Amino acid sequence: MTLLDALGRPLGSLRLSVTDRCNMRCGYCMPNDHYVWLPRASILTFEELDRLAGVFAGLGARKVRLTGGEPLLRQHLDRLITLLSARREVQDIALTTNGILLAEQAETLAAAGLGRITVSLDTLEPARFKSFTRSDRHDAVLRGISAAIDAGFAVKLNTVVMRGYNDDEIVPLLRFARERNLELRFIEYMDVGGATAWQESAVVSREEILQSVGAAFGPVAAVDGRGEAPAEQFQLADGSVFGIIASTTAPFCGQCDRSRITADGTWFRCLYADDGLDLRTPLRDGTSDDDLRALIAATWGVRMDRGAEMRLADPRRGALYALDGLRADPRREMHTRGG
Ligand code: GTP
Ligand code: 5AD
Ligand code: SF4
Repeated sequence: MTLLDALGRPLGSLRLSVTDRCNMRCGYCMPNDHYVWLPRASILTFEELDRLAGVFAGLGARKVRLTGGEPLLRQHLDRLITLLSARREVQDIALTTNGILLAEQAETLAAAGLGRITVSLDTLEPARFKSFTRSDRHDAVLRGISAAIDAGFAVKLNTVVMRGYNDDEIVPLLRFARERNLELRFIEYMDVGGATAWQESAVVSREEILQSVGAAFGPVAAVDGRGEAPAEQFQLADGSVFGIIASTTAPFCGQCDRSRITADGTWFRCLYADDGLDLRTPLRDGTSDDDLRALIAATWGVRMDRGAEMRLADPRRGALYALDGLRADPRREMHTRGG
């Protein structure tokens, strides 16, 4: 039996944030100087994360994506992947990373059973990278991408496009991806928690992205069969495929089968949700898997969230939270609930 929410959407995939720490400070995600971090004792162990993944998979969430913060900062992440890949009910294990630590870990991650890797790559220019991310490890990211390819992964690239920052790199980035046979997805800049400087004028829309790509590469054809994926796929005349995630101007909440768990075990049914459900307490107080399943099923069953659509309908759209709102609850941060 498929578990459906109040709008008829199944629970299909789970995003597990394994740490709220990050070794970059991207302007669209962590633009500020000081952060409230989750208390160390509240961070779930690998056994706890694996148990939750098992419970969710039993309810239909057979796809797991590990996120952060930066997930590769979590020591021995390969151990969690080994646990997850031993579960037959988990069919797809993916990772979203900024790539800095990927070169040194790619082989180990592959051996542990990781299936897919997505690397964030917003610029090809080291100086720009440094001013935007406050990290000077652009070369490590590029080496990480190469190492992941060498380890046999079908790597995807994620590029958040922001006006005045990297909108002049749409074509070079797509060329970079095509030369390596990688699928790049352009992402519209979103007004999520953490993006305290968000303004509509900085959003480069799906239409604009398609125009830039068309002008440089010729006809662009839409590919059918998106399903519940955030990315729409497009094909160039040479057969290469890229994606656009238009969550800001064309939200896809109607098909959303995703939910996310922060590193302290708080379950969010929407990227934009104000509050989540504490699963750490029942995990640690002896609640059985059956009771956890019942709690999750009941909570999913009444889900009405369509955060991105609600944002689009707001005529006075601006940053979702100001700094004090984020400090009041760090789980509102994008780097805490997972990108
Ligand atoms: P695939 O399984 O390869 O399709 O990956 P994915 O596209 O689900 O995962 P990824 O982590 O690469 O997501 C890319 C970006 O899409 C995220 O970083 C977010 O910016 C955005 N995104 C992902 N899921 C959601 C969602 O549920 N809602 C909204 N509004 N945006 C999302
Ligand atoms: N807008 C769009 N995507 C974002 N991400 C984080 N913040 C934002 C934002 N404001 C996503 C990007 C990045 C991943 C880690 O999180 O896809 O690659
Ligand atoms: Fe799903 Fe919320 Fe994203 Fe809409 S905004 S697609 S409901 S997570």
